[in-house]
Amino acid sequence: MLSHEVHGHGAAVVFLHSFPLDRSMWTGQLIAIGAAGCRAVLVDLPGFGESPVLGAAPSLDAYAHAVLATLDALSIRRAVFVGLSLGGYVALTIASIAPSRVAGLVLADTRAAADEPATRAGRIVNLALVRDRGVEALFAKMLPGLVSAQCPEAVRDRARRVASAQSPEGVTFALLAMRDRPDRTAMLATITAPTLVLVGERDGISTPDEMRAMAAVIPGARFELVLDAGHLSSLEQPERFNAALGRFLSTVSAS
Ligand code: MLT
Repeated sequence: MLSHEVHGHGAAVVFLHSFPLDRSMWTGQLIAIGAAGCRAVLVDLPGFGESPVLGAAPSLDAYAHAVLATLDALSIRRAVFVGLSLGGYVALTIASIAPSRVAGLVLADTRAAADEPATRAGRIVNLALVRDRGVEALFAKMLPGLVSAQCPEAVRDRARRVASAQSPEGVTFALLAMRDRPDRTAMLATITAPTLVLVGERDGISTPDEMRAMAAVIPGARFELVLDAGHLSSLEQPERFNAALGRFLSTVSAS
């Protein structure tokens, strides 16, 4: 079972973190989940936080199966899945391999497309950076792209602290899984669960234009911008992120 924490009662809302962070990135969302009368399930993906690295070959499927097995152990059959970036890749994978488990989807600052050749090449560089100089050096390179120019230093520090605590093994596994992930663009039109597509107004990684296009092909999906936020929109503007999440949850039944 993956390391996790459960807060509150009611319909389950499962939070899947971004790269290279862990479940602690979602503590700012707990109040909104309580207010929505739901139960928050925060999960450390394999190799992050307190979850061990998987013995399997790196893949998003391996992450998705580990999350589903954890929900089985918690007797959670269906849930709303909230995934940001890497977490969104995993949420989309779950929607693809186990659609009956998905009561709702929140795809935040993420994408359905596979890596472009240049991004794949960047993954190779980042694998070497982690091997030679560690996770802290990788995150120092990434951070300017993850938050807006106006992001407060306290938020940057928080993200830096969480990232620096991650293991090179877990981060390496994730880089390989993300590099080799399949293109899920075609499955977007087959999603039947209620879906919210959410993106930081200043996200330069999964841009508002790209995410608006993604929402346009998911049947009935809602699209919301998180104003004054970059890629890590839930960390940078938790109240705005939570307001959008709360509006969405009020329309979804996870039972
Ligand atoms: C993330 O925030 O999880 C990363 O930007 C995902 C990625 O590198 O593709």
